[in-house]
Amino acid sequence: MERATLSMTGDIILETKNVRREFGALVAVADVSIQVQARTLHSIIGPNGAGKTTFFNVLSGNLAATSGRVFFKGKDITRLPLHKTAHLGIGRSFQITNIFPNLTVLENIRLSCQALGRGNFRFFQSHRRFKEYEERAWEVAQQVGLAQQTLALARTLPHGAQRKLELGMILAPDPELLLLDEPTAGMASEQVPELMALIERIQEAGQKTVMLVEHNMHVVMAHSDKITVMHQGAVLAEGTPEEISANETVQTAYLGELYKAS
Ligand SMILES: Nc1ncnc2c1ncn2[C@@H]1O[C@H](COP(=O)(O)OP(=O)(O)OP(=O)(O)O)[C@@H](O)[C@H]1O
Ligand SMILES: [Mg+2]
Repeated sequence: MERATLSMTGDIILETKNVRREFGALVAVADVSIQVQARTLHSIIGPNGAGKTTFFNVLSGNLAATSGRVFFKGKDITRLPLHKTAHLGIGRSFQITNIFPNLTVLENIRLSCQALGRGNFRFFQSHRRFKEYEERAWEVAQQVGLAQQTLALARTLPHGAQRKLELGMILAPDPELLLLDEPTAGMASEQVPELMALIERIQEAGQKTVMLVEHNMHVVMAHSDKITVMHQGAVLAEGTPEEISANETVQTAYLGELYKAS
């Protein structure tokens, strides 16, 4: 059985080895091998259809890999489904909004703590445990800047606040690794810096690792420690924001166009 190269590479929280995912004849992710350093912000960029979301789906166990291996803290998690990776400490956002519109902010956050608590969704949960979830939900609401809106129904929140709520829901069970798929999508551009500052604060203060899929290049360059560029399912380049900005292959394949667009 293959082993993670953890001991040789130091503090690697997530490692993939030749991860591949096919949909019939289409190769959405083609033999992607990356290493993610713990407590960093690592972005995955690439044009539409490059395979970024599919890759995240494989990491979180939302989709099975066709081949290859995924290691989280040295443990082989390749075959684990979403709820198991969540229990291990991987929090996953989806490209589309995932909140319960008719519940309040606090209820949404509390449910997502509860979903991962022991005795999942059991009818009998002790009052004490309920109180713990409730307290955690308040704490998280505060952390994501929604302390004033805890009793508002989620559907009544402006879009920017809904994205904060989603972040709160991912954060609620206190994951070590957060997989954020386009967290700023659909936001008014003047709201983006605030959300990114929040993500960075969460990452730094909580000693967390964030993997980010993002199309806004200014955001990516300003906030990433490391960037992996995907193109047609494969890794085209990898490096610091400075290295990626200066990389000619990346420039020709894609970056120049994106900067023009944003
Ligand atoms: N469930 C699926 N069934 C069939 N093909 C799929 C499925 N999910 C994704 N694909 C295909 O796999 C390829 C990669 O898609 P993916 O959504 O991973 O790209 P992406 O990089 O996230 O793109 P975007 O930036 O537009 O979100 C695309 O060609 C897409 O059409
Ligand atoms: Mg996507």
